[in-house]
Amino acid sequence: MSQALTAISERLFDVYEVRKDFPILSQQVNGHPLVYLDNAATTQKPIAVIDAISNYYRGYNSNVHRGAHFLSDKATHEFEAARQTVRDFINSPKSNQVIWTRGTTEGINLVASAWGRENIGSGDVILVSTLEHHSNIVPWQMLATETGAKVVPMEVSSNGEIDLSALNSLLADTEFAASVKLIAVNYVSNALGTINPVKEIVKLAQRCNTKVLVDGAQAVAHFPVDVQDLGCDFFTFSGHKLYGPTGIGVFWGKESLLNQMSPYQGGGEMIERVSFSGTTYNELPYKFEAGTPDIAGAIGLGAAINYLNQFDRVAIIEHEHQLLEYTIEKSKKIKALKRVGTSKHSVGVFSFLIEGAHPSDVGLLLDQQGVAVRTGHHCAQPLMEAFELPGTVRASFSMYNTKEDVDALFTALDKVLGFLV
Ligand code: ALA
Repeated sequence: MSQALTAISERLFDVYEVRKDFPILSQQVNGHPLVYLDNAATTQKPIAVIDAISNYYRGYNSNVHRGAHFLSDKATHEFEAARQTVRDFINSPKSNQVIWTRGTTEGINLVASAWGRENIGSGDVILVSTLEHHSNIVPWQMLATETGAKVVPMEVSSNGEIDLSALNSLLADTEFAASVKLIAVNYVSNALGTINPVKEIVKLAQRCNTKVLVDGAQAVAHFPVDVQDLGCDFFTFSGHKLYGPTGIGVFWGKESLLNQMSPYQGGGEMIERVSFSGTTYNELPYKFEAGTPDIAGAIGLGAAINYLNQFDRVAIIEHEHQLLEYTIEKSKKIKALKRVGTSKHSVGVFSFLIEGAHPSDVGLLLDQQGVAVRTGHHCAQPLMEAFELPGTVRASFSMYNTKEDVDALFTALDKVLGFLV
């Protein structure tokens, strides 16, 4: 069990109290109280995070690891404390395996560039699922173009789950299995909310000596993640989907792999010594952190994790699950509504279509009533193609959403139906 689950929570989870921590939620939009159901795109930020960023700029803005002065010492201390917070959050063996990035996308590009170029060659296969976000497809296609490798999709069943038995059969072909150098898979689908059987995928991959990268962007805010328990080789996530700031994320890797990998970018901080006769590189994690990092972002992300850790994570899982169940029940009363992605293993994401209405028209009319959702392909065009859909309307829940938010969604949907169907 992850450390986050066993940690003693200091604060009882009460959604109405939690909402007071998020100032943005109390505003009106288009003359209606804001109902924010676009949390899979980005979550809102609690005061604790806003204050942590503001305190850094107001009180101790300075560069890290460089200055011989008070402000730089303080900034370095807080920056490295945030790294330690992330280490505990994902149960990394060491903090030097926690590398700051701009977000999940950069983490994946880092692996494609720094590990992929050295370990993937002509004829090799990179397996990705049909459920992937473009950020876990396109970097592999770019690498494949460069190296002569192939990107092969794993099948997804009609309810939006990765078909493990199909994967098993695929890897039973020993010649094919030997060519699969990497499986890149998301822990949770951003478009449908399906929680993928990542641990099982890692076990299958290990039999073939295949590395596994897990895109954890949509997982970390919803349930505790333990990278050691998962057994994956690489894990990456973003701060902004975890109540933290945009522009900061984390890339984690097994230490032995990180040590073998070449740097991702060159510049300050990532070097040990620079000379025209030859340059040597810094130790982990700095080897992968060229240039001045997003110091305020890292400190803000640390504050977001500390904010979340005050609560019993199980209470949050149950709360979000109840919101999803409540939504599913209410949706059954609308004949024209078709849910997309019906896996029992999913986080609070409700993707749907209204028969006879384009998703973007539905989204527009919901917005006019203060309800914020995302519409379209959700950066998962291959999935939409596989399901032969133009896109969906996606309501995604977070710890601060309430049953009243779900009621407001359906009240607004009733009006949409009146207009469009
Ligand atoms: N990846 C984000 C989403 O799913 C932007 O909306």
